[in-house]
Amino acid sequence: MAKKILVTGGTGYIGSHTVVELQQAGYEVVIIDNLSNSNADVLEGITRITGKRPLFDKIDCTDFNAMKALFKKYTFDGIIHFAASKAVGESVQKPLMYYRNNLVSLINLLELMPEHNVKGIVFSSSCTVYGEPDMNPIDENAPIKPAASPYGNTKQINEEIIQDFIHSGAPVKSIILRYFNPIGAHPSAEIGELPLGVPQNLVPYITQTGMGIRKKMSVFGNDYNTPDGSCIRDFINVVDLAKAHVIAIERMLEDKSDEKVEIFNLGTGTGLSVLELINIFEKVSEESLPYEIVGRREGDIEQIWAQPDKANKVLGWTAKETIEDTMASAWRWQQRLREKGTM
Ligand code: UD1
Repeated sequence: MAKKILVTGGTGYIGSHTVVELQQAGYEVVIIDNLSNSNADVLEGITRITGKRPLFDKIDCTDFNAMKALFKKYTFDGIIHFAASKAVGESVQKPLMYYRNNLVSLINLLELMPEHNVKGIVFSSSCTVYGEPDMNPIDENAPIKPAASPYGNTKQINEEIIQDFIHSGAPVKSIILRYFNPIGAHPSAEIGELPLGVPQNLVPYITQTGMGIRKKMSVFGNDYNTPDGSCIRDFINVVDLAKAHVIAIERMLEDKSDEKVEIFNLGTGTGLSVLELINIFEKVSEESLPYEIVGRREGDIEQIWAQPDKANKVLGWTAKETIEDTMASAWRWQQRLREKGTM
């Protein structure tokens, strides 16, 4: 019988791409999402790609009674927990909302897992836990730095909650995945990133500007200590990233590791600057992108890219897509949104 996976936040950006990969690998998926930052239409896109509609319940993970009912309704083999608030700036304005959403959601899941015999949870973490790294590329043993925002702090605290819970002897396993900068869209252009309002992240801002939805884009700083002065990130294709989750869930469910908690960096291993990414977008879209250099954005890290060796060797996972194909996928998705009249 197909294994059943609960995907929280499964209508979101990374969640939806992961649901596609899970279904294509033969898993049965139950999505829950409160739809605070996503749209149930995403289910149609997933269905068109995979030929199968995932089960969906509109539930907020912070609602313990609703979660209890969900765990009674289904028997889950494993969980992938994406549901979280993720805007760095907003987290500074609304810290309690971030702590409540991000911490209570995880605590509810962990509390329900043992009594319902759910074996493992994959947790969506971020390279933000490393803060400004002392050196790049950065591996999983690098020190955790004081968080620069409540959002970043929720990722650090949640990692600690998982570690503490498992070290207390709880009969669950976890794989913590630290993402670098996920970008791009499914090659079918059926699903992709769908920011509500003005995008905070770089790539949706680029593609919306390319489409003329935004007049021009701002590059936040060209006076960093990097070759072209703009910040450097490790931009990882979202489908590549999604595939790592399928490997992680299988690893836990099939006890391929004796360790009860494992941590992996998910990145390409290559750093690219903001200006280089803009150039690549201009090349693949054949659009010239109006941009101006403005002041630095508060809280930005100067440069960070992954040492993904552990994921490469232990998970047998590597980021495969080129940055050109990834940016082309983001652009196709933006064009699709225009065709559908969504944006
Ligand atoms: C941030 C968080 C990350 C989080 C992610 C999700 C940190 C250090 N990183 O990533 O943990 O998961 O958001 O929201 O907290 N840029 C521009 N112009 C724009 C937008 C962005 O120049 O209009 C630049 C930024 O200054 C940055 C780079 O592009 O240098 C990437 O920015 P962004 O896409 O927002 O991601 P991060 O800040 O790296």
